[in-house]
Amino acid sequence: MQPVQIAVAAVHLLLTAHLPQSQAQSFANTGNTSTPWFCHELECASYTVVGRNADYETRQYSSANWVSANVQNYTYRAALSEGFAPLFKYISGANKDAVNINMTAPVLVKVASGAGPFCQSNFTVSFYVPTAQGNTPVPTDASVYLNRLPSATYFVSSFGGYADDNTVPAQAAALTAKLTANGEAFDNSVFWTAGYDAPYKLSDRHNEIWILKSGEPAAAKSVAG
Ligand SMILES: *[C@@H]1O[C@H](CO)[C@@H](O)[C@H](O)[C@H]1NC(C)=O
Ligand SMILES: *[C@@H]1O[C@H](CO)[C@@H](O)[C@H](O)[C@H]1NC(C)=O
Ligand SMILES: *[C@@H]1O[C@H](CO)[C@@H](O)[C@H](O)[C@H]1NC(C)=O
Ligand SMILES: *[C@@H]1O[C@H](CO)[C@@H](O)[C@H](O)[C@H]1NC(C)=O
Repeated sequence: MQPVQIAVAAVHLLLTAHLPQSQAQSFANTGNTSTPWFCHELECASYTVVGRNADYETRQYSSANWVSANVQNYTYRAALSEGFAPLFKYISGANKDAVNINMTAPVLVKVASGAGPFCQSNFTVSFYVPTAQGNTPVPTDASVYLNRLPSATYFVSSFGGYADDNTVPAQAAALTAKLTANGEAFDNSVFWTAGYDAPYKLSDRHNEIWILKSGEPAAAKSVAG
């Protein structure tokens, strides 16, 4: 991954300005000045904010290509390292065309929790495939697969610092509680983490929890996103 270099104050100011809940706002990819600050120089999966309150945003994600690896493990951090490695190799040339693919954001981890502390959970770690990639190269590692995430609506909360084995369950539980309190209809069987920063980046870190709104395409739950 490349070091994060860009911090455009004006863009930050624009994005942190209060957005009336009625006013949907689209964020598109790199090159568009309305790219969220936390994408920094990376191309980000594009979305439209369709609602916002103090605790979370409601985002409509466009359908997009992702590359994924499934992992079973006991903890989030271990599963992330295990799934990240083959995906990073894939974008670094471990594909049938032997091409490099740009690192993007976010790194998504779908978490389907096991029944208890002694049960493994299922994780799907995914990288967003850049829109300009054209024909997405086929992975050479059989554990890595391409998939298309349909357009879907997620409730998204944000937190700084590091997403780890303590913060992830706590943040997911907090978002679930807010959604319940607000009477939102959501799928409580899985959630996602979205990470935007390399581990060596120490400040201005941004992480998210995504929970799928009920009534979204079933495929949104079964595939990467
Ligand atoms: C940036 O994205 C918004 C929303 O998708 C779009 O309306 C606007 O035209 C884009 N701006 C540029 C410079 O591409
Ligand atoms: C969990 O992940 C860690 C770190 O990648 C790995 O060493 C360990 O073997 C994994 N455990 C299982 C049960 O797969
Ligand atoms: C994890 O995946 C395995 C194999 O597909 C499945 O049998 C199991 O029920 C899953 N566990 C959870 C917690 O989703
Ligand atoms: C990869 O990143 C470079 C530098 O930011 C950019 O010029 C290029 O268009 C990107 N390629 C794709 C396929 O997105």
